[in-house]
Amino acid sequence: MVSERIEKLINEQIAKEQFAAQYYLAMSAYFETLDLVGLAHYFRIQCKEELMHADKMFDYLNDVGGAVILQAIPAPEQNFTDVEDVFAKALAHEKEVTKSIVTIAKAAAEECDFATSSFLQWFINEQVEEEASASLYLNKIKMVKDNPSAMYLLDQELAQRVLTTDTGSQA
Ligand SMILES: [Fe+2]
Ligand SMILES: [Fe+2]
Repeated sequence: MVSERIEKLINEQIAKEQFAAQYYLAMSAYFETLDLVGLAHYFRIQCKEELMHADKMFDYLNDVGGAVILQAIPAPEQNFTDVEDVFAKALAHEKEVTKSIVTIAKAAAEECDFATSSFLQWFINEQVEEEASASLYLNKIKMVKDNPSAMYLLDQELAQRVLTTDTGSQA
């Protein structure tokens, strides 16, 4: 049985993952307005990944006898200034999510809640990858932003992204 404190933190994290999905969908919509369909596709996949993260937490909370309490998801910002602005905000957002996961991991460690610690390890690893890819693409955008031909190629590269459904779930 999970503690009330951990239950609350995981419920908050479910909402944060759902908000991240909304935020990435807003970014995808922005790129659609620019006809950068590869970038739009990349963020659409990112949105789906975040929903899978929320589902993974939903399942875990049920598995350990916690109650899922869904929360209102705030509207995301949608007034992006340019392509670089979006990628910078995506990286900043992932860093916030990492902090939030670490907060839950600290609480689980304090409570000797080894099941939650083990569960969160997948998210800690995932955040390393999320920050690394957000940082990589932010740097690529900085390289190509003033060169339409290079941007065209990067858009094509990002159009190739495929949704990975391996969330480490044992179910
Ligand atoms: Fe996530
Ligand atoms: Fe993420």
